[in-house]
Amino acid sequence: MVVGAGDRGYDAYATLLLDEPDLGRIVAVADPDPGRLARFAERYSLAPDGLYPGWDELFEQPRLADYAIIATGDTHHVEPTILALRAGYHVLLEKPMALDEADCIRIVEAAREADRTVAVCHVYRYSHVFAALQRQIASGALGDVVSIQLSENVAYWHYAHSYVRGHTRNSRVPWLLQKSCHDMDLLQWLAGARAAQVSSFLRPTELTEANAPDGAPEYCIEGCPHAERCPYDAVATYRELTPMLSDLAMTERPLGLGPGAKALKTVLPKLREADVAGSARRLQWWRWPVAAVTDDHTPEGLDHALRTTRWGRCAYRVEDNDQPSAQTVQIRFDNGVLANFTLQSNSHRTMRSVRVNGTRGSAWGELRALDGWLKVADHVSGKVRSERIPTAYDGHGGGEMPLFRDFLRAVRTGTKPMVSAADSVESHRIAFAAMESAAGGGVIDLAPLDFGS
Ligand SMILES: NC(=O)c1ccc[n+]([C@@H]2O[C@H](COP(=O)([O-])OP(=O)(O)OC[C@H]3O[C@@H](n4cnc5c(N)ncnc54)[C@H](O)[C@@H]3O)[C@@H](O)[C@H]2O)c1
Repeated sequence: MVVGAGDRGYDAYATLLLDEPDLGRIVAVADPDPGRLARFAERYSLAPDGLYPGWDELFEQPRLADYAIIATGDTHHVEPTILALRAGYHVLLEKPMALDEADCIRIVEAAREADRTVAVCHVYRYSHVFAALQRQIASGALGDVVSIQLSENVAYWHYAHSYVRGHTRNSRVPWLLQKSCHDMDLLQWLAGARAAQVSSFLRPTELTEANAPDGAPEYCIEGCPHAERCPYDAVATYRELTPMLSDLAMTERPLGLGPGAKALKTVLPKLREADVAGSARRLQWWRWPVAAVTDDHTPEGLDHALRTTRWGRCAYRVEDNDQPSAQTVQIRFDNGVLANFTLQSNSHRTMRSVRVNGTRGSAWGELRALDGWLKVADHVSGKVRSERIPTAYDGHGGGEMPLFRDFLRAVRTGTKPMVSAADSVESHRIAFAAMESAAGGGVIDLAPLDFGS
């Protein structure tokens, strides 16, 4: 069953069951939004008695399935997870697990008491690039890992979408926790140890009213005089799709996609000018991020949302956004590995870059939405080779479906998933410590957690 039929609940892991029905089927869904319930019911062929207005109503029922996918928003993970465990379900839980350490630990303890599995959706461990990097480390090709540099480079338009106009614009759910608990998880996994000390700095956002260009209206669609020069123009982002097409134009694989996106970006304004049979108006890309703006998938519906909702607001004038524009984190792991991490909002495209330096070799690469690469150097022979990185056709650099398959394996065999709740707590603790440090707390020491046996 799925709890939360939003973007992730509807469009991520569960879609595997449509392609491979032998793996199982969804029997129930909970969401207070009737429109979302209806679209979910249609895609996953659910009868009306499988639709629930919320997790309370769902978990009051006798057990209906083997597992629950908890895909509610960031502030609503703990309660449904604990109820699901008590009702006897295994849980696939979206990140972040919880917003403080005590709640993370409650989840681990509830799983233990219920004797159920909780896997947390740290998709990047399963992505082609990071899985290949970990194989290199495990093979000994780099010798002992000495230091790691990792950057989460969030594209300017992605930052404006998710962390200025979007759900996560308020630092009550810190950006570092929300976005980069994944990165903290990757670092502890690549380092092969738990973090012992953490420090961090952050820089406030530039997207504030004080920096708004003169004469910018409240909504970009109202005819902003700066539209042509503003990277955050909502009309260009959601109606013209300019930043997404620019991002796609940089894609090297699958072959043809990059040049195709480049051509479309050039041709789209001309089509729109000529209104060739309404073709440009019809070209709306109803997936993330455009799908987040409105459930009314018509050009008129989109324009209405750009006129009336925060998705259409001048990015400088959203007003209640306070996520930082950049944050750095330094970590010393208890095996001596040192790591540097940067989360930043001004990238030309969304991608992670990584470098691992070892006593015998080094490896470096990039993970992008579809294509990625990884090089490995041997310090004895001086040879540099490129690892084969498949093109990713599912989300998150190829990580989504392997993660879900791993969870299904864990449920079926009663063994541990790759990222259990107890593993995930450690990544969350690094993020909590970094927030404390960035708030003026200096270097934070992290004592080992003891969950008992
Ligand atoms: N693993 C990843 O890489 C990854 C990527 C993106 C998002 N996420 C996480 O996934 C989660 C969901 O994100 P999203 O973009 O799908 O959010 P969303 O807002 O689109 O969906 C959340 C849904 O939960 C529903 N909901 C609210 N109260 C509920 C209740 N009582 N019972 C049942 N449903 C309820 C909402 O109506 C909404 O449809 C977030 O925590 C986000 O951080 C993870």
